Amino acid sequence: RRPRTVFSGIQPTGIPHLGNYLGALSNWVQLQSKAEPDDELIFSIVGYHALTLPQDPKALRSSRTDMLAVLLAIGLDPQRSIIFHQDENPHHTELAWILNCLCSVGRLRRMTTWKSRLATSRNVNEESEVDESLLNAGLFTYPVLQAADILLYKATHVPVGEDQKQHLELCRDLADIFNRTFKARNPLFPLPEHIFTPSKRILSLKDPSSKMSKSAPDAQSRILMTDTATQIKSKIKSAVTDSVPGITYDPISRPGTANLLDMFGACTNENPADIAKRYEGKGHGALKVDVADAVEELLKGPRAELERIRQEKGYLLNIAEDGASRARERSEATMREVKIRVGL
Ligand code: ADP
Ligand code: NA
Repeated sequence: RRPRTVFSGIQPTGIPHLGNYLGALSNWVQLQSKAEPDDELIFSIVGYHALTLPQDPKALRSSRTDMLAVLLAIGLDPQRSIIFHQDENPHHTELAWILNCLCSVGRLRRMTTWKSRLATSRNVNEESEVDESLLNAGLFTYPVLQAADILLYKATHVPVGEDQKQHLELCRDLADIFNRTFKARNPLFPLPEHIFTPSKRILSLKDPSSKMSKSAPDAQSRILMTDTATQIKSKIKSAVTDSVPGITYDPISRPGTANLLDMFGACTNENPADIAKRYEGKGHGALKVDVADAVEELLKGPRAELERIRQEKGYLLNIAEDGASRARERSEATMREVKIRVGL
C-alpha cells in the first residue's frame, strides 16, 4: 500500500452549520483518525475562494480565524495534519496562473458550479440566462485554483461532495494536460482520486426542498455550530414537516420528516429508517424533542471547545504561522519543478 496524501479545503465564510459539519468537516476528523502513520493530511482554509463572491473585509477576516478555531475544536490535530490558510502560501496562486494558461474557456463553461453560485448570490433561478457582465473572472476560474490547491501537494486523495466531483475531474484533466505538455522523465502530477463519503445532505429546516445553507436568508433554517441548546431546540421545534400522522422514513414524499430522521441518525450513528420504526405511533413533537437532544449531544463538546479556542488569539496565530510555513515548505519543490518544466 502506497502512502496517501489527502487534501481538502473549506471556505472561511462564517461559522459552519450542521450540514457543513456532518457533510464535510466530521469526515476530515474521521480521515485523520483512520489514516496510516505514513499518510499525509493537508487541510486548508481557502480564503482566495471566498473572494469569488463579494465579502465584507472585516467579516472575512474574523471568519478566517473562526474557521481555524472550528477545525481545531472538532479535533483536527495540527501535529498530525497540516492545517493552514491558503492565502498564506503564495504557491497556490502561482500554480493556478500556470494551470489557467492550460485550461480552455470552453471547459470552464461546462462547469455548473459557478452558474449555481452566481444564481444563488443574485437570487435568480439557476436556469436563467447568465449575464456575463455580472460574472467575475475569479468565480469563473475558481475550479482551476482548486486544481492548483490539490496538485501543489501532489495529493492522491480528495474527499469531495457530489457537487464538487466535476471539479475533481477538471483537476485530473489539468494534471494530465500538464504531464503531457511538459514531459520529462516522469509525469509531475499524480491524478488524484475521489474519496467517497457516505454522509447525507442535510436539508433546510424551513424549506426541505433545498439544502441547509449558510447563504439562505432565514437564519432559522440552519443550526450553527455555535448555537446553544435553547437555540437548537427552538429551531428544530419550528422545523417544517408535514401533517401526515405518525413517523415514517420517506425522503421523497416526506422530505421534512426524513430530514429530521437523517439528522438524528447522523448524530447517533443509526439507520434513519430504524429510528422511524421506534416513532411509528408517535408524532412530530416527540421526534423533534429527541432530535434536538441528539444534535445538542453531538455539538456540545465542539461548541465548548470552540468558545475556548476562539479566545486564544496568540495560540491561533502560532498555529496559523506554523501551518503556513509547513505548507510552503511542502509545496516549494513542486513549484520549482513546475517552473523549470514550463521554462520559467
Ligand atoms: P454552504 O452551501 O452552506 O455555503 P459550502 O458550499 O461552503 O456550504 O460547503 C462546504 C462543505 O460543506 C462542502 O463540502 C459541502 O459539500 C458541505 N455541505 C454544505 N451544505 C451541506 C448540507 N446541507 N448537507 C451536507 N453537506 C453540506
Ligand atoms: Na455554497
